[in-house]
Amino acid sequence: MRRNEMMKIILRFCEALLLLLLVILPRTKAVCPGDETICGNISIPYPFGLSPKCARSKDLVLSCNQTFNPPKLSFKSSRTKNGKNYTYDIEVINISLEQGLLQAKTPVVVFNFSEFTFGNYTPPLGYRPFTLPIHGPYTISQRHNLLTAVGCGAAASLTNTDFSENLVMCAQKCSSANLTNGYYKDIGCCQTSIPPGLRSYGLKARLLHSTSSFSHLAKIFLVEKDKFTCDSLYMDPNSSHLNHSTMFPFVLEWVVNKTTCDIAARDLTTFACISKNSTCIPTEPGYICNCSSGYQGNPYISNGCQVVVVLAGVGASFGLLVVLALLFLVHRKWKARNLKKTKRRNYQCNHGMLLEKLISLDEGGVCDQGFMVFPLTEIEKATNNFDATRILGNGGHATVYKGLLSDKRVVAIKKSKLINPQEIKEFINEVFILSRIRHRNVVKLLGCCLETEVPLLVYEFIPNGTLAEHLHMWQRPSSLSWDDRLRIASETAGALAHLHCDIASISVFHRDVKTSNILLDSNFTAKVSDFGASRSIPLHESATAGLATVAQGTFGYLDPEYYSTGQLTQKSDVYSFGVILAELLTGEKPISQSRPGGQANLRTYFVSATKENCIFKIVEPHIVNNNTRKDIEAVAMLAETCLKMKGDERPTMKEVEMALMSLRWSKKQQHQHPWNSSEKNEEIEQLFYQDYPQLSRFNDHYDSTGNYSLEMQLMSSSSIEYPH
Ligand SMILES: *[C@@H]1O[C@H](CO)[C@@H](O)[C@H](O)[C@H]1NC(C)=O
Ligand SMILES: *[C@@H]1O[C@H](CO)[C@@H](O)[C@H](O)[C@H]1NC(C)=O
Ligand SMILES: *[C@@H]1O[C@H](CO)[C@@H](O)[C@H](O)[C@H]1NC(C)=O
Ligand SMILES: *[C@@H]1O[C@H](CO)[C@@H](O)[C@H](O)[C@H]1NC(C)=O
Ligand SMILES: *[C@@H]1O[C@H](CO)[C@@H](O)[C@H](O)[C@H]1NC(C)=O
Ligand SMILES: *[C@@H]1O[C@H](CO)[C@@H](O)[C@H](O)[C@H]1NC(C)=O
Ligand SMILES: *[C@@H]1O[C@H](CO)[C@@H](O)[C@H](O)[C@H]1NC(C)=O
Ligand SMILES: *[C@@H]1O[C@H](CO)[C@@H](O)[C@H](O)[C@H]1NC(C)=O
Ligand SMILES: *[C@@H]1O[C@H](CO)[C@@H](O)[C@H](O)[C@H]1NC(C)=O
Ligand SMILES: *[C@@H]1O[C@H](CO)[C@@H](O)[C@H](O)[C@H]1NC(C)=O
Ligand SMILES: *[C@@H]1O[C@H](CO)[C@@H](O)[C@H](O)[C@H]1NC(C)=O
Repeated sequence: MRRNEMMKIILRFCEALLLLLLVILPRTKAVCPGDETICGNISIPYPFGLSPKCARSKDLVLSCNQTFNPPKLSFKSSRTKNGKNYTYDIEVINISLEQGLLQAKTPVVVFNFSEFTFGNYTPPLGYRPFTLPIHGPYTISQRHNLLTAVGCGAAASLTNTDFSENLVMCAQKCSSANLTNGYYKDIGCCQTSIPPGLRSYGLKARLLHSTSSFSHLAKIFLVEKDKFTCDSLYMDPNSSHLNHSTMFPFVLEWVVNKTTCDIAARDLTTFACISKNSTCIPTEPGYICNCSSGYQGNPYISNGCQVVVVLAGVGASFGLLVVLALLFLVHRKWKARNLKKTKRRNYQCNHGMLLEKLISLDEGGVCDQGFMVFPLTEIEKATNNFDATRILGNGGHATVYKGLLSDKRVVAIKKSKLINPQEIKEFINEVFILSRIRHRNVVKLLGCCLETEVPLLVYEFIPNGTLAEHLHMWQRPSSLSWDDRLRIASETAGALAHLHCDIASISVFHRDVKTSNILLDSNFTAKVSDFGASRSIPLHESATAGLATVAQGTFGYLDPEYYSTGQLTQKSDVYSFGVILAELLTGEKPISQSRPGGQANLRTYFVSATKENCIFKIVEPHIVNNNTRKDIEAVAMLAETCLKMKGDERPTMKEVEMALMSLRWSKKQQHQHPWNSSEKNEEIEQLFYQDYPQLSRFNDHYDSTGNYSLEMQLMSSSSIEYPH
């Protein structure tokens, strides 16, 4: 007992002593210049420094951000455009005194041509040109860097910052002979050298030729020579290699002063090469210093250049080492405590927001459905600490990881990239909506983790990719059969109809219905996902009025009425679903610049074909046969009504669901049973309740003859010719 207390007191004392040292040490340190400082494992030799006091001039001040692990060394650059001041950090990864070089990082700029005018050189939306500090000491090294473009059939150009003047270009043409399985198999990269003395640049790209099955991506960047090898992997549209967060090393040249050696050497009070045995070396646009041959070291500090001899300085005392070790321990403990505090704060904040939202609506639901709140440690274990190899997909705002829970369940874990309050709201919104939806065609939310700043969402894992991938990416034409397409359409319609009118007296509008939000499981069963943009409103309001919001959604799927009025109604989802039907029929993307007839918008393309009665010209040929012809016609007409410009003229999701189900039903009937009216009703009933248990709630709307007559009525109201 005594001993323990004694130990405690001693420990306390040590801690206090160390803390004191911690406070004193940094002050006694930092004797500059000449004191080489460190950021992570990057050494920062004088004339560079981490503060104006320690650097030779304010142009050579770098900053070391310790909040990153490892810490990040960078300098700031800014650019003024239309009165706005854009500031960004340029990350530094190595500094060479001898060569007057500095290795930094540049991002890959990804051009996605489907969003831009085909054939023109265009910068991507939101892309800002790169600029070095205007009066700073840096230039982009011509000797060490190359302009690089990846992407078959794309031409890249390096321009001035207005994008008005092409400085250099490079292009890699590929013929469609190189096209295998929807992407260019063989490599398509080009590299070219850049002009000298460059301090800023913009990047543009142009698609030289196009095939409809080519993923229209070009990835352009500057990179240090020999630091990039072209790889056919980069051409694969479903790989996330070379994305906008990929950084490549590139090389900057720096000068210590922008005057010539002659002029500088005249005034020894301002001359930078102050070491004995150092020389001045002129480099555009100024000079640097170097040790004379036979000498090594730092020419910018007195006696910095030393005869090349064996390294001194292993004499660091053992005592200092011990102190450092103890400091490290104390620091770690302090950090761990801080982390715990942050976790708790995040938990309270996120949890608080969630609870607030839940209570404001109703009491039912969340906890009694097996919805779990996972501890962060469990999620970290499941994803191997968010290992990059576990990434399943990258949306604009979130990354989805595959995870293995300790109970051996495979899950998908969604983690937001951006941390702003709006983002957190969307996550909470998704938790709220998904936690109360239980439908076999809606992806199941198993739980969430609230200990991070942005909550993490845990879903059931859906192994077979998205419908968009099956239709447009992996194989063209897609191998999905007509039966699968019809079933996927009907399942999706069922899920949306369920959302629109069936959840605990609220109505949910998905707002981002598109093929890339429809996941397919191992049996190709559809699962609607991504409810981040969804809105819920009380059921009695949803029938009539809409909800005024800022139009949000994906181009190509966005309801034109909603877009122009901002009035959200359930018919907006119906419109988007109409686009999906058109995609299922034609295999075309909702927006494509390479469609025959030049109709970029699938709706226009599709509706004009139905108007001219030549729907079979645009339907994917391999799904058309004598058995499917009538169904395809019926679905095409259904799609057309969904795509009406006026929301009022579109059917409801429930009507669409019924129409699709009856098509499926009639198919089963044809295949399996002779026509028999008593069996028919049973069959329908079975189909309905097996697939759509929620329908039992709607019984009171049905008339005495049962489902079938309702179905017929719905069919006629959506002006579909029923094939019997
Ligand atoms: C710093 O460490 C990273 C990773 O450990 C390494 O890739 C990099 O080359 C190192 N940089 C220097 C200047 O040693
Ligand atoms: C370090 O980086 C973080 C995250 O980007 C930023 O919020 C913070 O302001 C930076 N700190 C400094 C000193 O620049
Ligand atoms: C823009 O911001 C940078 C960094 O904060 C600053 O140095 C510069 O003076 C600003 N420029 C203008 C025009 O405000
Ligand atoms: C950093 O630069 C120094 C000096 O040129 C060089 O010796 C070293 O290899 C570089 N380190 C890395 C990781 O590139
Ligand atoms: C500086 O001196 C070193 C060693 O003598 C040499 O390798 C290097 O090329 C010189 N740097 C320049 C810019 O001349
Ligand atoms: C390119 O744009 C299309 C259409 O907006 C989108 O579906 C696709 O995901 C984008 N590709 C990349 C890699 O961002
Ligand atoms: C693409 O195919 C053409 C014709 O077969 C061939 O000449 C060319 O070398 C191929 N390109 C690449 C990058 O392999
Ligand atoms: C792209 O994804 C599909 C489906 O998972 C896969 O079959 C194909 O091999 C992938 N392509 C490459 C090059 O990995
Ligand atoms: C970008 O690509 C790299 C591989 O080059 C990968 O490690 C990283 O996770 C990708 N990031 C995103 C956001 O896709
Ligand atoms: C650069 O050189 C000039 C002329 O020798 C001198 O007046 C000026 O102070 C120097 N600037 C710096 C930052 O050393
Ligand atoms: C180095 O500097 C010292 C003192 O200025 C001088 O005596 C010596 O000759 C120099 N050595 C060389 C090789 O220039």
